[in-house]
Amino acid sequence: MSNIEQTLSIIKPDAVERNLIEDIKKIFTENNLSIKESKKIHISKDEAADFYKVHQSKPFYNDLCLYLSSGPIVVMILEGKNAIKENRKLMGATDPKDAENNTIRKLYGISIDKNSVHGSDSLENAKKEIEFFFKS
Ligand code: CDP
Ligand code: MG
Repeated sequence: MSNIEQTLSIIKPDAVERNLIEDIKKIFTENNLSIKESKKIHISKDEAADFYKVHQSKPFYNDLCLYLSSGPIVVMILEGKNAIKENRKLMGATDPKDAENNTIRKLYGISIDKNSVHGSDSLENAKKEIEFFFKS
């Protein structure tokens, strides 16, 4: 059974700043995730707060919103078989020091907050997050 999904990926400011956009995109495309849409944007802190509102009760919420709005990011729609799970696998664990070898966060992440990429974690959130950046 084919299970073609779309998911939202973000290349975060730390990775954009280090010119890692093409290296990260290549990891997606070489692993059967095609990039359907891609744009480089710089969001405000309020937009970041809206995007990350599921985390509003967490102690790291304010820093996370400041961080995501601190510089340009690249937002992408990735498409492929089991795209949500496959993207999470390619990203690796939230904290780069726990991430498996050859995952994006192991290769490029600096710390738990500067971990280079975001990826939707469920079908429901993928739909919401794609809508947030591409259908408004
Ligand atoms: O990004 P992921 O889905 O792996 O992790 P999350 O638990 O949904 O957290 C969202 C983001 O918050 C992470 O990617 C980290 O950048 C940040 N975070 C943090 O700064 N400190 C933590 N203790 C946990 C998460
Ligand atoms: Mg998450």
